[in-house]
Order: sequence, then C-alpha cells, then structure tokens
Amino acid sequence: MKLPMKRGFGKTDRTDDWWKGPAAMAAYLGIMVVYSTWRGMMEADFWIFEEFGRSAGHQTMWIESEGSHVLSPLFSPLVIPRGDGLGSMVPLELAWMSPAMFILIFPIGFRATCYYYRKAYYRAFMQQPTGCAVSKPWDEYSGETGLLLVQNLHRYFMYVALIYLPILSYDVWMSVNFHSAANVHSYGVSVGSMMLLVNLILLTGYCFGCHAFRHLVGGGANEWTANPMSRLKYRMWRFSTLFNENHRDWALYSLFWVMIADFYIYACTDPMFGLTDFILWGGP
Ligand code: FES
Repeated sequence: MKLPMKRGFGKTDRTDDWWKGPAAMAAYLGIMVVYSTWRGMMEADFWIFEEFGRSAGHQTMWIESEGSHVLSPLFSPLVIPRGDGLGSMVPLELAWMSPAMFILIFPIGFRATCYYYRKAYYRAFMQQPTGCAVSKPWDEYSGETGLLLVQNLHRYFMYVALIYLPILSYDVWMSVNFHSAANVHSYGVSVGSMMLLVNLILLTGYCFGCHAFRHLVGGGANEWTANPMSRLKYRMWRFSTLFNENHRDWALYSLFWVMIADFYIYACTDPMFGLTDFILWGGP
C-alpha cells in the first residue's frame, strides 16, 4: 500500500475484489430484513395486512393440519393477546399486533448487537469502513459512541437469547407429538420437525460461540489451574471457543435457517401453495 491513501469513495490501491464481501452481505442482510418484516407483519390485524394471515381467515404461524404442532421460529414463543400462556398477560387492545412484534425485539437485538454482525453491517450499510485500505465517503469516525452505546447491551440480549433455546427445544418436542382425529397419541417426524431441529442446532451453535457467552463461562479467571472452578471454566471456555472460531458461519447460517423454516411453515399453511407438512416417520 502506498501512503497517503487514495481519496474518494471506493478508491484504493488494492487489486483484489474487496467489494464483493460487503456487497454480498448487503444483499443477504437486506433480503433477510425484508422477508422477516413482511412475515412478521403478515399476522398483524390492521390496514393492508388484512389481506394476509389471520386477517384473511387462516393463520400462517404454525402447522396443525397433520396432527402435530409445528410452530415457526419467527413466532416463538407464541404471544396472542388474551390467549394461553404468555398471551394471557397481554391486553386484548393489542390484538391488532402480530405475535412476532411482541418477541422479535430480543432476537433482533441479539443479532444487531452481535460483534460479527456489527462488523458486517458497518461495512455493508454504513461504510464505516468501506473496506480495509479503501477510502470511504466521509472522514469522520467517532467509534461506538452516542446512539451506538446501545451495542453494550449485547450481553443482556445474550442472556435472553439463552432462554430461547429451551423454548425452541419445546417447539421441537411439540412437533414430534402427533394426535389423530380420534385424539390417539403417537410420535413421528415430519419435514417441519426436522426444520425446527436444525434451527435449534444452528441457534445453539450461534449462542455458544457468542463472545459474550465465552466471557460468561470462561471470563473472570486469572489462571486456569488454581482450583476446580478455574479448571471447569477453562474447559467451558475451550468448548465455547470451538463455536467461536466459526462464529461468522453460525451467525449467517442460523439466520438463513430461521427464514427457511418459517417459509416452509408459511407454505404449508397458506392455501395459495397447496402444500402440507410431509411426515417422514411415524405419526397418525
Ligand atoms: S458476539 Fe455474536 S452473538 Fe454474541
């Protein structure tokens, strides 16, 4: 690299295709945000959304037609105002809201403050930086100050994300329990339950490799061998490091799979597609 650097947006002495990564990331994250917003809104009960989902006379959040209960991870845990469970605490006045609106703040907050995603969208969308040794459109850089102080909440979002793991495990469990029309119980595995299982595995790998999780299980120790607790911390830190080394892949694949699993469930519930969940083994 020659100094001083070339000036002007995107100017650089680099000869590689440095722009491909940020451009692909902008497209990927853009599609994910548009899709999840559209799906989250679909089950809202107001304005233009009256043509979709619950408002159109059928819900698209879970598959029940085959005798099991396959709930989309975009809507889990399910919060329907004045409904069962968590929904019983929500007033009926909020029934116009999509169930996704009650819960997505936590996964969105977790991913938006993730160290890896920060790097990705700072480059892809904010041009901070445009790329290593690539000139960006503006000179100033103030770091993660002001509004971006919110990024410090990552560890708290991580605590909440950990709560999602048993919830999503429960969803997998529900999806392998079938009830026939005569209410006879049986176990089975469908494509929908496999979708949920893969989603759970990917999200678990993503959470276990989280930098804040790694610090939670292995941090605060000045050395690894002083006592049994230190040694345990070391083992847990090594375990988390296994996932942390590929945190980017866990981050990207787990996000992709949430959308794929949701789309499958959507396709099996919206009559427009004419699909049903495919049972691979067991069932009624
Ligand atoms: S650093 Fe990526 S999830 Fe915590």
